Amino acid sequence: MDCMGKMWRVVPVLLLVFYLQHCAHGEPEVPCYFIFGDSLSDSGNNNKLVTLGRANFPPNGIDFPNGPTGRFCNGRTIVDVLAELLKLEDYIPPYATVSDYRILQGANFASGSSGIRDETGRHYGDLITMKEQLKNYQIAVSRLTNILGNDTAAMDHLSKCLFTVGIGSHDYINNYYLPQLYPTNSEYTPVQYASVLINQYFQQLKTLYKHGARKVAILGLGRLGCMPLEVGLYGEVADTECVEFINDAVQIFNDRLVRLVDGLNANLTDAHFTYINMSGIQSFDAAAFGI
Ligand SMILES: *[C@@H]1O[C@H](CO)[C@@H](O)[C@H](O)[C@H]1NC(C)=O
Ligand SMILES: *[C@@H]1O[C@H](CO)[C@@H](O)[C@H](O)[C@H]1NC(C)=O
Ligand SMILES: *[C@@H]1O[C@H](CO)[C@@H](O)[C@H](O)[C@H]1NC(C)=O
Repeated sequence: MDCMGKMWRVVPVLLLVFYLQHCAHGEPEVPCYFIFGDSLSDSGNNNKLVTLGRANFPPNGIDFPNGPTGRFCNGRTIVDVLAELLKLEDYIPPYATVSDYRILQGANFASGSSGIRDETGRHYGDLITMKEQLKNYQIAVSRLTNILGNDTAAMDHLSKCLFTVGIGSHDYINNYYLPQLYPTNSEYTPVQYASVLINQYFQQLKTLYKHGARKVAILGLGRLGCMPLEVGLYGEVADTECVEFINDAVQIFNDRLVRLVDGLNANLTDAHFTYINMSGIQSFDAAAFGI
C-alpha cells in the first residue's frame, strides 16, 4: 500500500499521462519534471528545517525502498507514482539536495505545511512557502542556464518538462480553519477567501510561466472537510463523517481554480495547463495529521 490509496484516485492522473503520451514520443515520456506544493508532494525539503512539519523518521517511509526520506507517508507520493508512469529514470530529488547532473531532469520544490499565503502553516515552524519555492526554482533555472550554455537552450529544455503544482490545502486547514491562530477567518467570507487565494495563485502560476513552464498540471484540493483532523475540530456529533462547510469552501476554491486554468489556457496559448480533480480523495495520508 502506498500513498496513492484507492484505485479511483489514480484515474485523473492516468488521464494526464495519457494526454502526455500523445504529446511526447520516445522514452521517458518527458525529459524532466518539476514539482511544487505541500506535504502531498514533498520528498525531503523540510528535513533540515526547524519545524514539527518534518517526516524523515519512521513510521514515515516504512514501505519506501530507502526507508524514511522526508516523504509524509509510508510509501510513495502521488508525484513519485507520476514519475514512474512517465518512465523517468528515478524519483525527482528534493531541491534541497539536487545535484547539477540531476537538475536537468527536474527537482522537487514542495514543502510540507506550506501554502499559497506566506503565513500559512507557520505555527509548525520553518517551511518553504510557494513564493520561496518559486525563488528556488529561479535559482534552479540559472543553474540550468549555466549547464546548457544560454537562455534559449534553457527555455527550450524547460518547455518540454512537466510541472505539477499542488498547493492550497494548508491555506484552509492550517490558516482559515484555525481561527485561534490566524485572522483570515474573520477577515474574509469563504467566497472572498477563495478569491484572494486564487488571485495570488494566478500571480504565482504566471511567474512559473514567465520562467519557462509550458506543461503545467494543477492539482485541485481534496475534500479537506473529511480529514480526521477537521472532523475532530469541527464535527458536532460523533457520527459526523465530514465537515460539509469546509468541503463547500474548498469547492468554491476548486471551481475558481478550474476557471483560472481555462483563462490561462485561453491567454497563454503556447502553454498547456491541466486541472486535476482530487475531490474524490477520502484519505489524506500524513496530511491527516495536519502537516
Ligand atoms: C545556445 O546554445 C545552443 C547549444 O547549447 C547553441 O546551438 C545556440 O546557438 C546558442 N544560442 C545562442 C543565442 O547563443
Ligand atoms: C486573460 O486576459 C484577459 C484580457 O487581457 C484578462 O482580463 C484576464 O485576467 C486574463 N486571465 C488569465 C487567467 O490570464
Ligand atoms: C470532481 O469530481 C467530483 C466527483 O469526485 C465531482 O463531483 C466534481 O464536480 C468534479 N469537479 C470538477 C471541477 O470537475
